[in-house]
Amino acid sequence: MDRNTSASRGFPKELISTLVCQKDRGSLVADGETPEYIVDGVLKCATCSERYRIDGGILRMLPETQILGDTLASEMAARDREAEKYDRRIASRHYREVISTMHALGVLQGKTVIEYGCGTGRLTKEIVQKAHAVLAVDFSLISLKIVQHALPPDAPVGLVLADSIRFITKEHTFDRGLAAQFFEHIPTERERHLFLQHAASAIKHGGTFVATIYHHDLRRRLKKLSQEGMHKSGIYYYFFTMREIQKLFAQYFVPQKITPIDIMLPFAARLHLSQKLSGYISRCLECVLLMRLLGHLILYQGAPKK
Ligand SMILES: C[S@@+](CC[C@H](N)C(=O)[O-])C[C@H]1O[C@@H](n2cnc3c(N)ncnc32)[C@H](O)[C@@H]1O
Ligand SMILES: [Zn+2]
Repeated sequence: MDRNTSASRGFPKELISTLVCQKDRGSLVADGETPEYIVDGVLKCATCSERYRIDGGILRMLPETQILGDTLASEMAARDREAEKYDRRIASRHYREVISTMHALGVLQGKTVIEYGCGTGRLTKEIVQKAHAVLAVDFSLISLKIVQHALPPDAPVGLVLADSIRFITKEHTFDRGLAAQFFEHIPTERERHLFLQHAASAIKHGGTFVATIYHHDLRRRLKKLSQEGMHKSGIYYYFFTMREIQKLFAQYFVPQKITPIDIMLPFAARLHLSQKLSGYISRCLECVLLMRLLGHLILYQGAPKK
């Protein structure tokens, strides 16, 4: 791919071959002559002629909101409202999650990655420095625009506005799949299965899927907090137990690692450690059995079942 002659912040033409029509899985082809990076254009299904717009570099594949249902539609609006504040809100936890997550993704050189629920690109920015290309999917247009502006114009990242639960791609195409803090916001059991089925089929045999997910940890259990609820902003969440994740994912993936991460020692907040140091301490604590009970997130790493 010639990154020097790219149009600014367009959708990389080379990622079109990873996409399919959301109605009938037909191949998509660009309408007319296309540059290496498409800023405004149309992708057309070779089977049913359905058209998908690329508008300002972002591919639009979102279904009508009625299909999403009220809970997801409410989250979509909330994510757009909250997008500007997101990175600041999560900054203190960033390193306690990212070091382990990047490690679980393994070697990324030459690899093509699909990221579900990429948000404002916290991990997209890390991945793109190493991987060959990234297809980053989210249903918050404002979040995707933030990612777009944070990336160099010629970054090999294809931004897609779509419902990550229902989004389908060409089968067994990606070397890696990532869903960081996305799974806990899927509102129904049926949709959790739908997402896992789609993610498993998007990834190559021998590829890796990594997810970080809210953990119903010891602190929450002692406080008798409910596993399910709505954030004030109107965002649905579910805090999972390790066993629940094991069971749900087992139908689609062979587990390689399931471990609590994002561990903070009791009273650590008073020590005012740097965020990076707190990230490395958390990573060491992942090996301490009792400390693992305090992990705020579950890290899942697995390979799609054949
Ligand atoms: C907690 S944020 C995590 C963002 C990013 N992965 C990170 O770790 O910083 C969850 C993201 O998932 C997106 N999301 C939630 N449900 C979605 C869905 N059904 N389809 C697409 N995006 C969704 C939200 O818009 C939001 O950007
Ligand atoms: Zn079609």
